[in-house]
Amino acid sequence: MEWTKEQRYRSMDDVTEEEIQGLAKLVNQCPWRQTFHIQPPTGLLNDPNGFSYFNGEYHLFYQWFPLGPIHGLKHWYHTKSKDLVHWENVGVGIEPSNEFDSHGAYSGSGIEHDGKLYLMYTGNTRDEYWNRHPYQCLAVMSPDGSIEKMDAPVIVDIPSGYTDHFRDPKIWQHGDHFYAVIGAQKRNETGSVVLYRSSDLKDWQFAGEVKTGLGEDFGYMWECPDYFELDEQGVFLFSPQGLKAEGDHYHNIYQSGYVIGSPIDLENIELKHGAFHELDRGFDFYAPQSTGDHQGRRILVGWMGLPEIDYPTDKNGWAHCLTIPRELSVKDGKLVQQPVPELELLRGEKVETRQTVENENVSLDNFEGDVYELLAEFSDSTSVEFGLEIRVGEVEKTVIKYDAVAKKVVFERTESGESFAEEFGTVRKCMLDAEKISFRIFVDVSSVEVFVNNGEEVFTARIFPGKNSNGIRVFARGGQTKVKAIKWDII
Ligand code: FRU
Repeated sequence: MEWTKEQRYRSMDDVTEEEIQGLAKLVNQCPWRQTFHIQPPTGLLNDPNGFSYFNGEYHLFYQWFPLGPIHGLKHWYHTKSKDLVHWENVGVGIEPSNEFDSHGAYSGSGIEHDGKLYLMYTGNTRDEYWNRHPYQCLAVMSPDGSIEKMDAPVIVDIPSGYTDHFRDPKIWQHGDHFYAVIGAQKRNETGSVVLYRSSDLKDWQFAGEVKTGLGEDFGYMWECPDYFELDEQGVFLFSPQGLKAEGDHYHNIYQSGYVIGSPIDLENIELKHGAFHELDRGFDFYAPQSTGDHQGRRILVGWMGLPEIDYPTDKNGWAHCLTIPRELSVKDGKLVQQPVPELELLRGEKVETRQTVENENVSLDNFEGDVYELLAEFSDSTSVEFGLEIRVGEVEKTVIKYDAVAKKVVFERTESGESFAEEFGTVRKCMLDAEKISFRIFVDVSSVEVFVNNGEEVFTARIFPGKNSNGIRVFARGGQTKVKAIKWDII
């Protein structure tokens, strides 16, 4: 169904309770609703927003269009949690309601200041000719959870030299000042990021474009920038659009990744850094956002989805979810991503096995399911390839394996179930040279997140298998491999 502009930008004030309930009913009939991931009650979820630790709780908002699986009038939906694992749906956090965000409360971030949580976001507006006019707006959440929008935007004008693709402020504090990076497109249609400075979060000065070593030819727009310091390094995350596929890299419609180097030079507005790395080597990952917490950790959540792609849940009136939270650390000039330890709170019944596998596919006794955590460690291998098949049914399987000849981790969703996005390929690979290979996998009804070798690489994917595709198998070809596997039900 084609959605008209009127349908996409309809105010929620005109939507009846009956209509919402009808939508929710359709959504709840979907066989692919998730169990432990943040997902929208109805409609479409995209970027994580305003991720922060405030007043004893984690707050995580997301981009939300309530009325269907399309990108329409975006709200911020508010969820919160004490442990990063059990999330409470709070309801709409920021509603697009005035001339500065009439066409969507777009992405942004949060920071605590003076006992309140300041939320800075992009107000998206369109004029009568459908030209875009973005404003950077502020909303303030009090400790009681009430959120109030400021009457006027805090950044109105786009600095000269940039187009109207100017959005997604990410704020941090350094010394007495606050800084914000904003994703921008230059007039020559290349992506960039600009820096603003403020002493009170309300009055912002344009500091300049951030100089990076990425050159002029690194995509046409950088969405959702993020900057933080970890282990005395400066890390700049962003989601560039327009990179061309290259070897095993950049096969999704858009990418997200980071550069890492010295902390940003705030005087010269310059980042000195190494190569760009993709954050996730799977199929469905975009627009991640990080926050620091009270334990000094840096935690990242991403959108488990991508724009401009139809997903099999669309017909049930909803789309997408967020990833599980990942704790970041730095190792050998790269980010390592580990599921936060709190996820162990979800562990239920456990099964375990050790075996040597040779030239065959072995179903693991008592290992099956569609919602679980699985840790598989492979060692002492003489095989040319070995790995796992999960969500196995009569004609379905999802494969995670190590190709010991090419030294690559391979993820295949070619036969995972209902297919989608096939034009972007159904196999993802990445180099990893190691003797021992471990896959720690979080499986929900319609997703898989694989942490390889303690988070050195991560593969995230939506999959849409049949309800009975619950088998788990191990295999080794062209030699022997030892495997130790533990599976926990997730409750
Ligand atoms: C990224 C993005 C952001 C924008 C938001 C709108 O997915 O396009 O740049 O703020 O989504 O929903």
